Amino acid sequence: MGRLDYLVTGAKGQLGRAVMALLQRRGLGALGVDVQEMPLEDRAAIQRTVAAAAPRRVLHLGAITNVDGCDTDPLLACRVNGLATAWVAEAAAAAGAGLVYVSTDFVFDGTLAGTPIPVDAAPKPLSTYGLSKRLGEEAVLAHGRPGFHVVRTSWVFGPGGKNFPRAILDRARSGQPLKVVTDQIGRPTMTLDLAEALVDLAEANAPGGVWHAANEGQCSWHRFAQDILQAAGLGHVAVGTQTAADHAASVVAAGRPAPAARPAWSVLDTTKLAQLRGRPLPHYTDALRRHLELDRDAQVAPDTAPGGTLRGKTY
Ligand SMILES: NC(=O)c1ccc[n+]([C@@H]2O[C@H](COP(=O)([O-])OP(=O)(O)OC[C@H]3O[C@@H](n4cnc5c(N)ncnc54)[C@H](OP(=O)(O)O)[C@@H]3O)[C@@H](O)[C@H]2O)c1
Repeated sequence: MGRLDYLVTGAKGQLGRAVMALLQRRGLGALGVDVQEMPLEDRAAIQRTVAAAAPRRVLHLGAITNVDGCDTDPLLACRVNGLATAWVAEAAAAAGAGLVYVSTDFVFDGTLAGTPIPVDAAPKPLSTYGLSKRLGEEAVLAHGRPGFHVVRTSWVFGPGGKNFPRAILDRARSGQPLKVVTDQIGRPTMTLDLAEALVDLAEANAPGGVWHAANEGQCSWHRFAQDILQAAGLGHVAVGTQTAADHAASVVAAGRPAPAARPAWSVLDTTKLAQLRGRPLPHYTDALRRHLELDRDAQVAPDTAPGGTLRGKTY
């Protein structure tokens, strides 16, 4: 029997589900693991799992992705997102496997406004989450191995589970007021398109290092909410505006901890990946249209999150 193609961590997460489905469609063998099968707090479990699977490549997606939650337990965030990534990298190297580690635009402080952020820009995280993911990046890059990649992405959404488009539509359909942040600009990125890019990169035997993967286009969260309503035939629903600072103040006024700081400018420069694949990822509005078709069947009860504001799942 040949070698297993992929070991995927975070396989039950929103990106993990898309990656597992894609690998199956491409006829690539994959073992998906999540909290139950391979807790990232457990170095021995990581070593055991990777050694037993002996995959050609590891796609490391598992992480604590609750950005605000990371502030409440920084040690756990850094252990799961940072230290565990060092353990995954160590185990992948020992197994002679390639590694793709998915990271985030939140490793940047967002002060380069106006210019897409190049892959070699200096990271400067604003939040515990961003710092913990940067620790993971450093652990992967320290190996300097040709098959080890860090892929930063941003504002991820996809069918199934909790996602920003669904939260906006649920709120609009139930007549609740919408107020969305205007002064954070980024690139919404669909799980299905990102999964294609990650597997293409892994299969291309591309040089190791840092890559940026995001759908084309750019927008504020407010503009994205308007795009979502328009695409769903609800373009008549008004979307109120607020700044990130107003949002934070309203959260604190409601008695909850202040949200973690997020970069005002998150537009990743994806040229390097587009050159490798011969094309960029599709525009986010195209991705949104496909997402709404796929997510329609999965509609669930209206979002019941407290407070009158929305800013995306956790980003
Ligand atoms: N979502 C975004 O907007 C975004 C943006 C940029 C980068 N990323 C990165 O993309 C990757 C995938 O994100 P996603 O959106 O698919 O997030 P997700 O839906 O939260 O998936 C992450 C998965 O990791 C699992 N996990 C959490 N703690 C773990 C632990 N201690 N041990 C083992 N598994 C654990 C989660 O399980 P539970 O659900 O049970 O906790 C979940 O299944 C992450 O590395 C994230 O940092 C995401």
